[in-house]
Amino acid sequence: MPMLQVNSLQVALPGQRGLARALRGIDLELDRGDTVGLIGESGCGKSMTALALMGLLPDGARVSGSIRFDDQELVGLPDAELCKLRGRRMAMIFQEPMTALNPLHTVGAQVAEPLRQHLGMGGREARAESLRLLEQVRLPQARARLDAYPHQLSGGQRQRVMIAAALACGPDLLIADEPTTALDVTIQRDILDLIAELVAASHMALLLISHDLGVMAQNVQRVMVMYGGSIVESGQTASVFARLAHPYTHGLFRARPQLGAARGGRLETIPGRVPELVDLPPGCPFADRCPRVLDLCREPPPPFPVGTDHAARCFNMSPPP
Ligand SMILES: Nc1ncnc2c1ncn2[C@@H]1O[C@H](COP(=O)(O)OP(=O)(O)O)[C@@H](O)[C@H]1O
Ligand SMILES: [Mg+2]
Repeated sequence: MPMLQVNSLQVALPGQRGLARALRGIDLELDRGDTVGLIGESGCGKSMTALALMGLLPDGARVSGSIRFDDQELVGLPDAELCKLRGRRMAMIFQEPMTALNPLHTVGAQVAEPLRQHLGMGGREARAESLRLLEQVRLPQARARLDAYPHQLSGGQRQRVMIAAALACGPDLLIADEPTTALDVTIQRDILDLIAELVAASHMALLLISHDLGVMAQNVQRVMVMYGGSIVESGQTASVFARLAHPYTHGLFRARPQLGAARGGRLETIPGRVPELVDLPPGCPFADRCPRVLDLCREPPPPFPVGTDHAARCFNMSPPP
């Protein structure tokens, strides 16, 4: 049994226009030492997947399917039980450190908080360990910054603090949701290298979320391509990028912003846009935008094998490039 086994995970969110099916049957396995990337355009359900795994979905979300973590079922688990896992066994780094860090608490206190809560450390011990962690994430002048507030730090430094807090209790699973999107290009590489180094050193599992194909190519063993709340293609990173079997993956790759282009821009060369969840077609979610659509695509496509340990949910895959 892998450490994390997700089967048919579905999440629906009540909205003004009815239930929005944000996740439509996600399957995923992760073991310690595995690094997996989740890629797709904005609005396709990447963050929702992360929040579902962490038990942090918005109020009213309806969840079905299964999330087994070390053989414990997390779907339906009381929040008090999830709290024991969050920050200790599984941790998350968010896109925008300013919203994830508490502006009213010092950096040292925020890194110490999980140590006190989960490991029962006293103030002095937790402060010493916080300093060690801030040095480990190479926060400049770490000792002086224990008593600084988040707004006194740069974006990159805040992200280092969030990484230190996430890793404080030595989690087995780290989820990083667009951890560098809010940062300057020059700092993005440093932060990704830092995450990769820490993940490798402690043999954690990493779920890295990004819309940047270059980030994926360099940082994860496997990728899952997400669209409309479904995983449309998954496999070894090199295999997926070499084959681009699903027309959506193919489109994403062609739409890849060129080096030096404005970052954070939408991928605009796939015609059409990500549909509202309540409006998604019943079959393949990409059918309305797909250049290869067939009548058949009104039925949901099952995963078809593309190669070894590589599959795509498509009745009419793109030809090999
Ligand atoms: N709190 C919420 N209530 C209702 N719908 C939401 C909420 N948060 C996100 N959504 C919707 O869920 C879908 C998936 O969003 P999200 O997982 O944030 O996408 P991504 O991270 O891939 O950009 C989007 O259509 C978004 O509008
Ligand atoms: Mg997101």
